[in-house]
Amino acid sequence: MTRIVTLPSVGASMLGGSITLPPQPCTHGPARSVSPWTGAEGTAGTVAVVGAGKMGLPLAAQFATHGWSVIAVDVNPAVVEAINAGRSHVGEEPGLAEVVGRVHAEGRLRATLDAAQAAREADVVVLIVPVMLNEQRQPDYRYMDPAVDSIAPGVHAGSTVIFETTLPIGDTRGRFAPRLEHASGLMAGRDFHVAFSPERLFSGAVLANLAAYPKLVGGITPASTDRAAAFYASVLDAEVVAMSSAEAAEFSKLADTTYRDVNIGLANEFARVADLHGIDVTEVIAAANSQPYSHIHMPGIGVGGHCIPVYPHLLLARAPGLRIVETAREVNDGQTDRALDTIGALLGGLAGTPVLVLGLTYREGVKELAYSRALPLIRDLLAAGADVAAYDPLMTAAEIEALGARPWAWAEPGPYRAIVTQTADRQFATLDPAWFPDLAVVYDGRNSLRTLALPSGVVYLGVGVQAGTRVRAGA
Ligand SMILES: NC(=O)c1ccc[n+]([C@@H]2O[C@H](COP(=O)([O-])OP(=O)(O)OC[C@H]3O[C@@H](n4cnc5c(N)ncnc54)[C@H](O)[C@@H]3O)[C@@H](O)[C@H]2O)c1
Repeated sequence: MTRIVTLPSVGASMLGGSITLPPQPCTHGPARSVSPWTGAEGTAGTVAVVGAGKMGLPLAAQFATHGWSVIAVDVNPAVVEAINAGRSHVGEEPGLAEVVGRVHAEGRLRATLDAAQAAREADVVVLIVPVMLNEQRQPDYRYMDPAVDSIAPGVHAGSTVIFETTLPIGDTRGRFAPRLEHASGLMAGRDFHVAFSPERLFSGAVLANLAAYPKLVGGITPASTDRAAAFYASVLDAEVVAMSSAEAAEFSKLADTTYRDVNIGLANEFARVADLHGIDVTEVIAAANSQPYSHIHMPGIGVGGHCIPVYPHLLLARAPGLRIVETAREVNDGQTDRALDTIGALLGGLAGTPVLVLGLTYREGVKELAYSRALPLIRDLLAAGADVAAYDPLMTAAEIEALGARPWAWAEPGPYRAIVTQTADRQFATLDPAWFPDLAVVYDGRNSLRTLALPSGVVYLGVGVQAGTRVRAGA
């Protein structure tokens, strides 16, 4: 049986860097279907997952594999249609298509556009639609508010509503519970349960992470915590951590992600130090991290995706003026300027210079452009008058054109004087500099081209990795 604890039992890594968590074996026996579900061990009920996207669909599939009857709710008819045909519309997630097909065939997963009806039928409702930032870098609830309003008429006595979307501290209790109360006429914490449980999975490894990452849960009342923790204990094999409050759980997610942003900001500053002294920063970081208390992340051309660059702002939204947090955001976002300044200085300006940008998604292997640093990179190159071409193995020529860059086809000879990599796609290390007779500089934004052989006239620049140090340290 999955254990529920009050503190995670994993210790700090003795090796430095990220801690690799072992997957937990499934120790659940077959669950007995009940209605209503009241949290008893060994029983399963009906759960609605609202927002069947990159995170919601794997969650829905996971819940179904543990005997729950799952209703996926989405506003996108194509998503609903795909799930009801037993297909995963989320690519790039190992194992997901197979699990979705299986649980659908077994009759445990279906999808609907009707959120209120799904909530009416469900014992548990899990919300996982995005909360983003607006122009003022304040939380943007344009998806979450309507999602909450759409389930509210179906919330009933005994319902458990769990928010998995990353939220500013206080939103579960202060913003969303009252909305649910208003529409349902019931009292949160007395008639129905409300909890927050952050989704902490890594795109591309979601099913594996679900088996390993401790699940943090905090309710607006102890009873809400208990019920939500009992739900996760019945559907997950990893440890469930029952926290003291919804706010503590909300803060945990913001603390983990903000820590990573600040850590990367520091690594980017260390890269500057390494550049000043002609030292390879990756060698230094690997050495420093052999001390058990050192967990320095890797420097790079910036931080993208809709998590790490966003969540520090959700923290700042309720606690303005956190100086280290604000500074880290500035440092990390400034990495693209630094790259362009460096390239411009080497080439005597960017106006009229043909530049090739490689890797446009926020990270290799995930087709997601949200907050990708390729966007300001292309924008600022164009503003400086450069002639910008771009390539990403996950994107079509039309998608690249929509970003304002000329699509480049792999292996096509071209007049590029500078190449900038924005992701660490493995394909880039197979690039042949002979395709580019005018090439003068390779700016390796992810330090992933350390072993790429370059003609003697081409300058290599990594982030804290210089030409003279790269091959030795990378070997
Ligand atoms: N993607 C990640 O790497 C990641 C990692 C950890 C946590 N998260 C959390 O998960 C949240 C969702 O991320 P995602 O990557 O799954 O997003 P996504 O864009 O892939 O999916 C969101 C889904 O919600 C649907 N939706 C929008 N409004 C809706 C509504 N009113 N009712 C029902 N469905 C609605 C959309 O159609 C879409 O299918 C993020 O905001 C974040 O808090 C994401």
